[in-house]
Amino acid sequence: MKIAVTAASGKLGKAIIEKLIPETGIDNIVAIARNTTAPHLDNLEVRKGDYNRYEDFIKALNGIDILILISSSSEPEERIEQHRNVIKAAKFCGVKRIIYSSIIGNQDKTLFSNIVKSNRQTEKDIVDSGISYTICRNGLYIDPDLEYIPHYIKDGVIENCAGNGIASYTSRNELAFAYSKIATGKHHTNRVYNLTGPAITQSELAEQINNIYGTSLIFKDITPKEYIKLRQEALGSFMGGIIGGIYESIRLNYFNVESDFKKITARDHRTVTEMITEYKNKTL
Ligand SMILES: NC(=O)c1ccc[n+]([C@@H]2O[C@H](COP(=O)([O-])OP(=O)(O)OC[C@H]3O[C@@H](n4cnc5c(N)ncnc54)[C@H](OP(=O)(O)O)[C@@H]3O)[C@@H](O)[C@H]2O)c1
Repeated sequence: MKIAVTAASGKLGKAIIEKLIPETGIDNIVAIARNTTAPHLDNLEVRKGDYNRYEDFIKALNGIDILILISSSSEPEERIEQHRNVIKAAKFCGVKRIIYSSIIGNQDKTLFSNIVKSNRQTEKDIVDSGISYTICRNGLYIDPDLEYIPHYIKDGVIENCAGNGIASYTSRNELAFAYSKIATGKHHTNRVYNLTGPAITQSELAEQINNIYGTSLIFKDITPKEYIKLRQEALGSFMGGIIGGIYESIRLNYFNVESDFKKITARDHRTVTEMITEYKNKTL
């Protein structure tokens, strides 16, 4: 059984392939990437796949049984069309199941809403294609927060517009573990899963970092308008809007969902404390 992973040059693709290798053996994995020269792709079968190029995927998906489609990072309208290229090629090539990395949280009120809606559109496109599927709605990656810990410590504060909202966090490694089980396990056909860990507030996040790092961070809540302005000044209109929209979505509790992680993996998702501790030990 051949399993292909798209966007294999990226961090989630890398993590999924690492977790798949012990499950399937390296010979049954095909890494599909726009950038085929990423160092972690050495020793793997690598095929070229730019989401903008249907013709790439006609070749890349030849002989593939299961496709793990990792969502593109392009703007919403563009990514819908990019994903359609892959789905159409998967149909042409006779792929038996598509596992799609989507996002949790239905919503229509923030600057992140269009991203969520584009994910829902791709989910629908996959279902409409008639190919069997597993839709995986990922929780929020905690990884960017972990990488940001030195900045939080320098500033003494976690500042955003999440208020008292509760968000379900996960990590790329935890997701990768679940994807490896979904790709190789039975009973995951035509299912929609929420893949997340525990839901916490930003104050709890600050407290947990404090417990592990011995710091005294506080959480400072500012209005969505103020926060979006700050992020857009720093990151530009599109990316700043997305980040601002994510924290406003937390404020509105859009990311507080029930998880299917344990049902799939037969173990608890790592707690936020465990994920922070693991990160600290890795970066010491
Ligand atoms: N749940 C969350 O909290 C969360 C957070 C951030 C992102 N995401 C989503 O999850 C996805 C994967 O995350 P990640 O951590 O792996 O992101 P990442 O490390 O930034 O990787 C993004 C990947 O998308 C690929 N890509 C972009 N445009 C492409 C195209 N036209 N054709 C083929 N590949 C293309 C990139 O390829 P190149 O190496 O060629 O650039 C790269 O492999 C993101 O794309 C985004 O949709 C979710």
